[in-house]
Amino acid sequence: MIIAVDGPTASGKGTIAKALAAHFGLPHLDTGLLYRAVGRQVALDGRDPDDPTDALAATAFPDALLLDPQLRSEETGGLASRVSIHPAVRLALFERQRAFAEQPGGAVLDGRDIGTVIAPEAEVKLFVTASVTARAQRRWLEMQDRELDLELREIEADIAARDKRDIERQDAPLKAAPDALVLDTTELGKDEAVAAAIEAVEAGLR
Ligand code: C5P
Repeated sequence: MIIAVDGPTASGKGTIAKALAAHFGLPHLDTGLLYRAVGRQVALDGRDPDDPTDALAATAFPDALLLDPQLRSEETGGLASRVSIHPAVRLALFERQRAFAEQPGGAVLDGRDIGTVIAPEAEVKLFVTASVTARAQRRWLEMQDRELDLELREIEADIAARDKRDIERQDAPLKAAPDALVLDTTELGKDEAVAAAIEAVEAGLR
């Protein structure tokens, strides 16, 4: 069984995908991490994330980079959303994601285009979303935990900019697949969101 979990940044899709993987005993791939690794590699190379050739070269990042804690930073998230615009970058990362989706027994993948491009045949597709304000508040709380001091307003502006880039890009824009179930987590706590997602998957399999 393939479960596709898509949605914008800080919507809760990562938490939900991880919980679904644990609940249904499936392996999980956070595909955003691949784009983050490309973004980080471009920066390490001192190259330009907006240049398609520089960004494509960075898709040859070493696997060890996936363990770099810097990948989780807001800065790397911004770089990821810039390199992810280039079709050549998306193509270079396609096979790796496809192979993960196709493994025997199935998998859970989360990202932006899993239900639309990477695994359109997924048995269950969830599109997890929440208001920009709710997402910015969650990100802000996460940052407080990591003792990072960023203004809520700054985070909200950054999230809105990233949404815009992800939604407006030509290639594999962020959008719900027509057969995806939309789960709005604005008013839900973490446990409620996970429970709603498990229920949605079970309903989708009936
Ligand atoms: O999900 P996460 O915030 O880690 O993703 C970082 C960026 O990578 C996103 O803003 C998006 O531009 C890009 N991305 C993508 N397609 C995916 C996963 C992430 O374009 N499947």
